[in-house]
Amino acid sequence: MKAFHGTIIHSPKLGEIEILENALLLVADNGRIEAVEPRLDRDEVPIFLQSRGLHPRQGNTPASIKKDADSKDDAAADVHYLARTQFLVPGFVDTHNHAPQWGMRGLGQGLHILDWLDRITFPHEARFADPGHARRVYARCVDGFLRQGVTTASYYGSRHAAATDVLADLCLEKGQRALVGKCNMDRNAPDTYRDADAAESLRDTEACIAHVRARDPDGRLLQYVLTPRFAITCTPPLLRGLGDIAARESAPQAQGGMAIQTHFNEAEQEMTSTRALFPEFRDEVELYAHFGLLTPRTILAHCCYASESELDRLRQLGCGVAHCPVSNMTVGGGFMAAPVRAFLDRGIPVGLGTDSGGGFSSSMLDAMRQAIVASNAREVQSGGALKGLSIPEVFHLATLGGAKVCGLGDKVGTLEVGKEFDAILVNADPARPGIMTMVEDEDSLGTVFEKFVMTGDDRNIEQVFVRGRQVKS
Ligand code: GUN
Ligand code: FE
Repeated sequence: MKAFHGTIIHSPKLGEIEILENALLLVADNGRIEAVEPRLDRDEVPIFLQSRGLHPRQGNTPASIKKDADSKDDAAADVHYLARTQFLVPGFVDTHNHAPQWGMRGLGQGLHILDWLDRITFPHEARFADPGHARRVYARCVDGFLRQGVTTASYYGSRHAAATDVLADLCLEKGQRALVGKCNMDRNAPDTYRDADAAESLRDTEACIAHVRARDPDGRLLQYVLTPRFAITCTPPLLRGLGDIAARESAPQAQGGMAIQTHFNEAEQEMTSTRALFPEFRDEVELYAHFGLLTPRTILAHCCYASESELDRLRQLGCGVAHCPVSNMTVGGGFMAAPVRAFLDRGIPVGLGTDSGGGFSSSMLDAMRQAIVASNAREVQSGGALKGLSIPEVFHLATLGGAKVCGLGDKVGTLEVGKEFDAILVNADPARPGIMTMVEDEDSLGTVFEKFVMTGDDRNIEQVFVRGRQVKS
């Protein structure tokens, strides 16, 4: 049993931040949050724990000493007393992320999307034919995201099944919660980097699904996510085959069905090219819905453009949006500010994505800040109709909002009893290395939180936990 005493900050409701000061949070050995006692003075902690049959011991005792002293004491609780500048928040959920682009972040800024794919991305991703290369890059990728507090990521792999298996294995080894999918693409990519045909792409997909299930049969950390890159790189038989897998996996016993992710209404060049390839469909909603790929488990990256009728259909279908404001304003073509307020007003689930490497930053803190910038642009563009997003709103999108988009809203996203302990221990002590706006004695906890969200970085992310396991120390 682990226990933390101090400040907890989370957002159970869009637009609201709940700050629990002097809270005690208990994490059971199975990784679940067992209790949150909101107001308990520090000197009351031992009595409270003893009333629950637990023996408190100081959490910062070195593990080896503790083991000798308490090896037979299975009801001990390691209590970590947080300082005034420390607080717990839920881990960040990155709803859109390309693991094989870890090594090309920042390259090709300003290119339009299809040129960026041809010139930078495809040659880079082709190297993941070598599973050794995949292991080297993916190990750094998973470590890099954990270091920045990304406790859940929805990953696009490369098109290679073996490399995608490696990515799934590394997430398990390193303890990151993840949706992992082999990227499906059987046309409009170089011969050196595309699936031979729909049949091969689907066979490889089934093999990856089997691998993920064999490694994590109960889905403790891993889920497979069907990953048609986008309609431009998928023939109709491939889209149909993936829709058939989604239908098979949505049977009642499949518990909510299999996740699906794709790029959607991202940029003018992409939308024009999609229309030319699929003239029979009025828009991308009709296209992907026709192939059975729009379900309540679908994660649509970008949605920079959406007509009224598309918004209505997306709401009816229950699809979620992965808003990726950094890549939308750098790679793709133009300055694209998705109508996030319009999604939220209609109850369409929204999370944030780094989209790294299209996005140059792999930080969810940057994604939150850029979501504010993009929403302000949209407010001006819309003549004030679509109001900009607040700090509590973008924080919600980065945590519970993203968890819901990934089908994990009942498991993670807040620090509440019954949820799994995916959390970040923030340290805002100005004496630490870093450039966060300095915390002053008179600051309220709300001000400290605001300073962290707007100016903190991974140096303020002191510890990270997934399912109770410490994955950054
Ligand atoms: N559309 C198709 N593939 C990609 C990709 O890798 N990144 C982005 N941003 N858009 C895409
Ligand atoms: Fe992307």
